[in-house]
Amino acid sequence: MQDIILCQSLEEDLTQAVSSCPHDRLFVLTDTETLRHCWPLVAGIPCMRDAQMITIPATDEHKTLETLSTVWTALQQGGASRHSLMVNLGGGMVTDLGGFAASTFKRGMAYINIPTTLLSMVDASVGGKTGINFGGLKNEIGVFNCAQSVLLDTTFLRTLDRQNLLSGYAEMIKHALISSTEDWAELMRFDLDQVDYALLQQLVANSVAIKERIVTEDPTEKGIRKALNLGHTAGHALESLALAQGRPVLHGYAVAWGLVCELYLSFLRTGFPQRTLQQTLQFVRGHYGSFPITCKHYDQLYEYMTHDKKNQGGVVNFTLLANVGDIRINQSASKEEIMEMLDFFRENC
Ligand code: GLY
Repeated sequence: MQDIILCQSLEEDLTQAVSSCPHDRLFVLTDTETLRHCWPLVAGIPCMRDAQMITIPATDEHKTLETLSTVWTALQQGGASRHSLMVNLGGGMVTDLGGFAASTFKRGMAYINIPTTLLSMVDASVGGKTGINFGGLKNEIGVFNCAQSVLLDTTFLRTLDRQNLLSGYAEMIKHALISSTEDWAELMRFDLDQVDYALLQQLVANSVAIKERIVTEDPTEKGIRKALNLGHTAGHALESLALAQGRPVLHGYAVAWGLVCELYLSFLRTGFPQRTLQQTLQFVRGHYGSFPITCKHYDQLYEYMTHDKKNQGGVVNFTLLANVGDIRINQSASKEEIMEMLDFFRENC
C-alpha cells in the first residue's frame, strides 16, 4: 500500500520519499500551469537536481492517448528503465495520466504523487486509479496501481482559486458523509471565505484517512470502495449535461449537486434523515450556487445515468446512505424514483 505523507517540510519529506525508491533516472511530470506555479517550490530541493522534466498541456481535455504518447516518448528518449522513478506534480489530470504512463512504461516503473489541488489531494492522487479519457468517455482506459508515496502539502493550496478549492471540498463532504456525523458537522462549520490553512491541513488529513481506510479494504472496487461513488451517479450526469450545453462546471461542483440528489434518493429509499439532507442542501446552495434544470432535461440526465460505467444490466446503480456513515452500496432506483429525485433538485438547487 502507498505511503501517504502529510508534509511538515516538503524538502525533507520528498528527499526521504525519493531515497526510499532506489532508481537509475528521475523524471518529473508537470503541466504548463504547475510548471509555472508549483515547480518553483520543488525545483531547489537537492534530490531534484538531476530530474528530467516532462511537461504536458494543462486541463482534462488533454488527458488523451496523444498526450500519454508524448510522455512515453519523453521517457524513452530520456533513457528511462523499469528502475526509473517518476514524480507527478499537479492536479488529478497529471497524477492520473502520469500514474498510467509510469505503470505501463516497460511494464511499470515506480512513481510518487505530489498533488497540487484540493481535489487531487483528497481524491485523485490516493488509491491507485490511473488512466486517460478515451472515445469520448472519462477515465475509460487505465489500471489500478498505487503511487509509492503521496506527499500532501497544503502550501500548494494557497495558489488555488476559490472555485477549485470548493471543487475539492465537495469530495471532502462526500468522505465525511460516508464516515461520521462529527466529520460531516466539522466540514459544515468550516469557514471557506476566511480559510484557516492549518485547520484545512487537518481536515485534508482526515479526509484522506477515510478514503485510505476504504481503499485498503477494497482496492479494486468490488464492494465497499463503491461508497466513494456517493453523489457521482447524478453528479456525472449533471457534469455531462453542463458540458453538452456549453456551460461546463468543475467536477466538484457537479459532485456537490449530485450529493444533494443522492441524499434525497437516500431519504426516499433508505430513510436518510431529512434534517441532515436540508442542512447539506443549504450548505451546497450557499457555496456552490444553483444549477438550473427544467423537466425537459430529465430524459437526457436519465440517459447519462443509465450509461454510467458503474451500472450492470442497464439498471442505474447508486450508493446511498441510511444515515451519515451508514452506507448502502448497489442500490438500484426505478425511473420514477429518479424522476422524483430530479424534481427535488430542480425545485431546490
Ligand atoms: N474517486 C473514487 C475512487 O477513487 O474510488
